[in-house]
Amino acid sequence: MTGQQRRITTQTLLRMKQRRERISMLTAYDFTMASILDTAGVDILLVGDSLGMVIQGEETTIPVSLRDMIYHGRLVARAAKRAMVVVDLPFPHGQLGVRKTLAVSARIMKQTGCQAVKLEGGAEQAATIRALAGAGIAVIAHVGLRPQSVHRLGGYHVQRNTEQILEDATAAEAAGAFCVLMECVPTELAAQVTAALKVPTIGIGAGPECDGQVLVTHDLIGLTVGRVPKFVRQKLDLSKEIQQAVQEFNAEVRAGTFPSLDESFE
Ligand code: KIV
Repeated sequence: MTGQQRRITTQTLLRMKQRRERISMLTAYDFTMASILDTAGVDILLVGDSLGMVIQGEETTIPVSLRDMIYHGRLVARAAKRAMVVVDLPFPHGQLGVRKTLAVSARIMKQTGCQAVKLEGGAEQAATIRALAGAGIAVIAHVGLRPQSVHRLGGYHVQRNTEQILEDATAAEAAGAFCVLMECVPTELAAQVTAALKVPTIGIGAGPECDGQVLVTHDLIGLTVGRVPKFVRQKLDLSKEIQQAVQEFNAEVRAGTFPSLDESFE
C-alpha cells in the first residue's frame, strides 16, 4: 500500500497485545459506513452475521446466507484502506467440517477481498482452525456466547462455564487462530483467558480486561431498532436525529419552502 496508511495485519494486532495497546473493532455492512469507520481509525471492521438482525430484520443470525456475507463483505473491503476486514462464516458454513469450511473460507476471501474470517467455536473446531491456518487463512475463533447456537443455548445469556471457555480459547490458539473473540463472558474469566493467551482477545460483553473491544456499530450510534444490550455504550441517538431531519424535510416539502431558488437551476 504505497503512499497510504499501512493495513492492520495479524502481526500488528499481536504487537498491540504485547505493548498493551487496546484494539478497536466495529461491525460494518456497507461501503459508506465502512469508509467512515476506517477513516476514524477503527482497527478491525467486522462484517458480522449480525447483519441478519441489524440490516435484514431477522430475529437471529441463522437465516444469513453465504451470498449475503460475500455481498456485504465486498462492499466493506472496497472501503477499508487501513482496517483489517474480517468476514463471519454464516451458519452452518463454519460447522460443516474441515474440507467444506476451508472451501467456503477460501471463497469468501477470494470474492470479498477480506483479510480474515471468523468462525464460531473453540475446542471442537480445532481441526478446522488448524486447516484454515495451514492454508494461510487468518481466522478468529468466537467463543463464549455463540449466537448461531442460540436455540441450543436457550437464549442470549452470559456464559459461565469457566473450564469450557478456557479450553475453547486455548485450543483455538493452539490450532492457529490469530485472535479469540469472547462474547458475554464474566469479566474475571475473560481476564483469565486474556492472560493465558499469546494472541489478542477481543471482548463483547466480556469486561474491560480483554485486549480489544467490539460492538455492533448500529448499537454504538443509536440506530438499533429494538433492545440494546447492557454492554453497549451508546454514543449517539441517530434514529432520533434522522427522524427529526425527515420530519423537517416533510414539512418543508409540504409547505413549498423546499427547494429555494438557491437550490434550483436558472
Ligand atoms: O456478528 C457479529 O456482529 C458478531 C459480533 C457481535 C461480535 O459476531
